[in-house]
Amino acid sequence: MPRPKALVTRTLLPDALDIIRAVADVEVWPDEAPPSASELHGLAAHADGILTTIMDRVDAALLDAAPNLRVISQLAVGLDNVDVAEATSRGIPVGYTPGVLSKATADLAFALLLGAARRTSESERWLRGGGWQIQFHPTHWLGQDVHEACLGIVGLGQIGREIARRARGFDMDTVYHSRTRYPDAEAEYGIRYAEFSDLLAQADFVMLSVPLTPETHHLISGPQLAMMKPSGILINVSRGPVVDPAALYEALRDRRIARAALDVTSPEPIAPDDPLLTLDNLVITPHIGSAALPTRLNTMKLAARNLVAGLQGEPMEACANPEALA
Ligand code: NAP
Ligand code: GLV
Repeated sequence: MPRPKALVTRTLLPDALDIIRAVADVEVWPDEAPPSASELHGLAAHADGILTTIMDRVDAALLDAAPNLRVISQLAVGLDNVDVAEATSRGIPVGYTPGVLSKATADLAFALLLGAARRTSESERWLRGGGWQIQFHPTHWLGQDVHEACLGIVGLGQIGREIARRARGFDMDTVYHSRTRYPDAEAEYGIRYAEFSDLLAQADFVMLSVPLTPETHHLISGPQLAMMKPSGILINVSRGPVVDPAALYEALRDRRIARAALDVTSPEPIAPDDPLLTLDNLVITPHIGSAALPTRLNTMKLAARNLVAGLQGEPMEACANPEALA
């Protein structure tokens, strides 16, 4: 029997590629920049399986261009770039990578929270610019306490729970708002459920860990920012479009909220001349939530195993649409 053909749209670490090469002929897109839609469609024409990243638009047009496709494996937990319903209607299972990256993403969420609260990036820029002329000044660089502050988590999924777990170590008072109420998590992490508007009004730190869906697009816009405390800090580790960037810019510029910390932006990459980048009260990182080496390797290996399982017609470890094969 001929070996299946697998398309991998980004270079992976060798240990992950080896998992796929053991069972399939693999074509890896070699460039730093991702393939354009037409390049992707051309490459996928003969593929039996495709390993995608958040930059690949997996839609009806791609599926039309790939008539042999019998598995999609996404190297991410977020699937907002994938039309899962379309794949399901064609009987194509979609693998993804939940869980394996939750702790690393929660770690980064806390790095952002701490950095924004204690103004680490802002004061480092000042120091590097020659601003540190007096050894100690009692009123300089006053930030906010993290310990015993109120944290509001929006989206209590796998990442949200890891954030709640970390907040306990900082003696934070944590409330959450999510689509589903979780009494088990309330007991385990000592957290309380709140309606969205109550969370926004109460929290010193509003942490976004929802998926991007039609319901969460611009979940945070002008009215929601107006509900936050003037001392409030917004942290987004979910997807950029969950926050309306123009409304955030205005709220930060006018100091209607104190600070924000973003790992994700809209668009990505953010333009170098984006007005948000002119603001001192913004901490920003380039979508690195899960970018710790052991985590990334484990995530790649999971995506590789999902791809192989799909190529072999076996159940995946993590499948977003198991009904596709029913
Ligand atoms: P998850 O386990 O599916 O958790 C998402 C949570 O959000 C679930 O509890 C879900 O509710 C809740 N939710 C969904 N829609 C909602 C809504 N409209 N209002 C309130 N809550 C809602 O996913 P996860 O693994 O925690 O990941 C969450 C997202 O983080 C991913 O989708 C991805 O976009 C992003 N992410 C970013 C990075 C990064 O590098 N920055 C890394 C990994 C993931 P239910 O419990 O009812 O389903
Ligand atoms: C990363 O952003 C992911 O969704 O895994």
